Amino acid sequence: MKRKPMIAGNWKMHLTTSEARALAEGILKQTSDVNTGEIDILIAPPYTSLAAVSGTLASSPVLLAGQNMHWEESGAFTGEISPLMLKDVGCTHAIIGHSERRQYFNETNETVNKKLHAAFSHGLIPIMCVGESLEQREGRQTFSIIQEELEKGLDGLTSEQVQSMILAYEPIWAIGTGKTASPEQAEEVHKFIRGWLISRIGNESGRAVRILYGGSVKPDNIEGLMAKENIDGGLVGGASLKADSFSQIVKRSL
Ligand code: 13P
Repeated sequence: MKRKPMIAGNWKMHLTTSEARALAEGILKQTSDVNTGEIDILIAPPYTSLAAVSGTLASSPVLLAGQNMHWEESGAFTGEISPLMLKDVGCTHAIIGHSERRQYFNETNETVNKKLHAAFSHGLIPIMCVGESLEQREGRQTFSIIQEELEKGLDGLTSEQVQSMILAYEPIWAIGTGKTASPEQAEEVHKFIRGWLISRIGNESGRAVRILYGGSVKPDNIEGLMAKENIDGGLVGGASLKADSFSQIVKRSL
């Protein structure tokens, strides 16, 4: 089954608005020869730069995502951003359950689940992250952790919703460490996720879901990762902060 690859840049807590605009312009320029019928390109700037970057991307095929969101539409939730606000500023996607949210900001499988339901009610496509820590990997808990994240995170979603979302496997030990998972290590978990999806929503639908890999993706390791059957793209942190390296990753994914 041929799935359309996606390369997504997660800019995390980096860049002022003018820097963000310049990076978005650089990415547009350097990927102008890429056929976006063959690959999806997405960027997730910090909230403060979403409006500026949205303007830069207008009428381009590059997609825009929030890095997180609250599950309510509005209310007394100081410091939070709602799905309505992401839509309003031009986002089509939202990253949900990133390990940094889980590690540092109390994100749980239950809040991830609420956010996934909210994303779908507002027409945002979620990119849901799962992944194990080094300790969990060494304790041979990788599959049970991922399974729990999937079961609790996706609880109550319809098959259609699950089929339309994007998953990202991001082993915590590979994030920002320069220590990427080998294509074989990543594929082993992607295959496990694929199997889980197939048992949840059936063979054909389960095979249609895109599963991205994230964790120290760079221009020189993306090809090996993309060669694996169940790796459908990358969720890129550090290397997405330079137009050059991000665009190289996009081009080498084709
Ligand atoms: P790095 O590419 O910097 O390892 O970050 C990965 C990541 O967390 C993307 O969401």
